[in-house]
Amino acid sequence: MPRPDHLQFGALVHGSGGHIAGWRHPRANPDGELDIDFHVRLARTLEDAGFAALFVADVVAIWGHQLDSLHRTTRADYLEPITLLAALSQRTSRIGLVATATTSYNEPYHLARKFASLDHISGGRTGWNVVTSVVPLEAQNFGRAEHFSHEERYERAAEFVDVVKGLWDSYAEDALLRDKAAGRYFRRDGRRAIDHHGKHFDVAGPLNLARPPQGHPVLFQAGASATGRAFAARYGEVIFTSPVSTEAAVTYRRQLDAAVTAAGRDPGDVRVWPLLTPIVADTDAEAAAILADLGSLIHDDVLRRLVQDNFGDEDFSDLDLDEPLPDFGEDTNRSQSRRAGLLALARGERLTLRQLALRFSARADTAGSAATVADRIAEVWATGAVDGFNVSFPYLPEQADRFTAEVLPILAERGLFRPPPDGTLRQRLGLPYPTRQGPR
Ligand SMILES: Cc1cc2nc3c(=O)[nH]c(=O)nc-3n(C[C@H](O)[C@H](O)[C@H](O)COP(=O)(O)O)c2cc1C
Repeated sequence: MPRPDHLQFGALVHGSGGHIAGWRHPRANPDGELDIDFHVRLARTLEDAGFAALFVADVVAIWGHQLDSLHRTTRADYLEPITLLAALSQRTSRIGLVATATTSYNEPYHLARKFASLDHISGGRTGWNVVTSVVPLEAQNFGRAEHFSHEERYERAAEFVDVVKGLWDSYAEDALLRDKAAGRYFRRDGRRAIDHHGKHFDVAGPLNLARPPQGHPVLFQAGASATGRAFAARYGEVIFTSPVSTEAAVTYRRQLDAAVTAAGRDPGDVRVWPLLTPIVADTDAEAAAILADLGSLIHDDVLRRLVQDNFGDEDFSDLDLDEPLPDFGEDTNRSQSRRAGLLALARGERLTLRQLALRFSARADTAGSAATVADRIAEVWATGAVDGFNVSFPYLPEQADRFTAEVLPILAERGLFRPPPDGTLRQRLGLPYPTRQGPR
C-alpha cells in the first residue's frame, strides 16, 4: 500500500498525563486515571479532532519497586487496557483503540480471543501493541523468579504472534452461516484448528469466535534493539519509536525499510510514529516556563528512579544527583536501546544525574506556541521518515485540548494534516487487509 500523504496522529493516553509529575500540575486532573468519564471526554476530543487512534500502555505489575519514588507517581494505580478500551468503544465511534499486552505473561489463546472480541465490539477499531515486558517485576506476578532474557522473550513473542494470527484465521469470513432454515450455524469446512506445537506453546485451536472485522487487529510494536527491530520488521504494522534526534529518525527509517523488505514485506505496509511530547502555550516563553514548572514538580527520589528504571539493572540509591552519571556499561536485560540512549546523552554532554533525568522527562524542542510546535512537526514530516506521531500529553486534559484546538488546525491549513477517512482502523491507516491462511 502507498505510504500516507498526510500526517497521522495517535495519542498515548494516561489518566492525568504522560510526564512523570504531570499529575501534580495545577491544571491536571489527578483523579483521571480511574475516571471513565474523564477517559471518554478525552477520547471524544481526540476523535473529533481527527486522531486515528488512542493507545494505552501497560505493565502487569506496579511500575517500579522503589517505594521512595513510586508513592509519588501514578504508576501503581491504572486500569487494565482492554477493559478500558471496551468501555470506550461504546462511547466513541471512529477512533482506533490500541491496547498494550505482553507476550511474556499471557497465553496466545487468551489474547487472540480478547482482541478479536474487542474488534467485534468496536466495529473493527482495535490494535494490539505487542510488548515483551520492560519491567522485570512482572515475572514475580506470574510464578517466575526472574524475567525472561531479552533474546528469549523475543523468541517467545514471535511464536506467540504466529499462534495468535493463526487463531484469528480459525473461521473463513463466510463460515458463520447462522442459517435458521437449514439449521446450520457454521460451515464445518470453513473452520480450521491450528494444531500448533512449538518450543513455547502447544495450542490446538480453533478460536471460539468469528474472524475479526479487520481480519487481524492492527499490530503495533516498539522494538528498538537489534532483535526488537527485526521483530518489528517482521510483524509490526505501526511502529512506535522515540528517536533522540531527527537524524536518528531518518536513519531508523532507512534501516527499518531495509529490514521490512528483507522480511518479505512491503515497506509501504508499515507506519512509523515517533513519540511527541508537546507543551503548547500562548508563547514560546510561556511554554518554557511550563516545562520548568513540570521539572520542579519532580521530587529528587523520582528523578533518581526515573533514570534507574529506564536504565535497568543498577541501583542508583547512593548516587549524588548533582554529580555526572558514573560510567556504566551498556548491557541490560531491560530496554537496551533506552539504556544506550541515556548513556550517550549523559556521556556526550557530561550531564549530572539530575540534568539527565530532567532531559529524559520532557523535551524542550516541542514546547512552544502552537505555531512553533506545528513548525517542529512539519520539519520532521518533511524528512519523509515518519508517517505521523504518537502524542503523549505531559498533563491532561489541558494539553490535549490545546493541541487539538490550536496545533492541528495550523497543520491542516498548511495541507499537512486532514482527519483520516471513515472505516476500520486498518482502512484509516491505509494498511492492507490480511488474507486468511487456511481452507476457504
Ligand atoms: C511509545 C512507546 C511505548 C511503549 N509502551 C510499553 C508498554 O506499555 N509496556 C512495555 O512493557 N513496554 C513498552 N514499551 C517498550 C517497548 O516494548 C520496547 O521494549 C522498547 O521500545 C525497547 O525495545 P527493545 O526491547 O528492542 O530494546 C514502549 C516503547 C515505546 C517507544
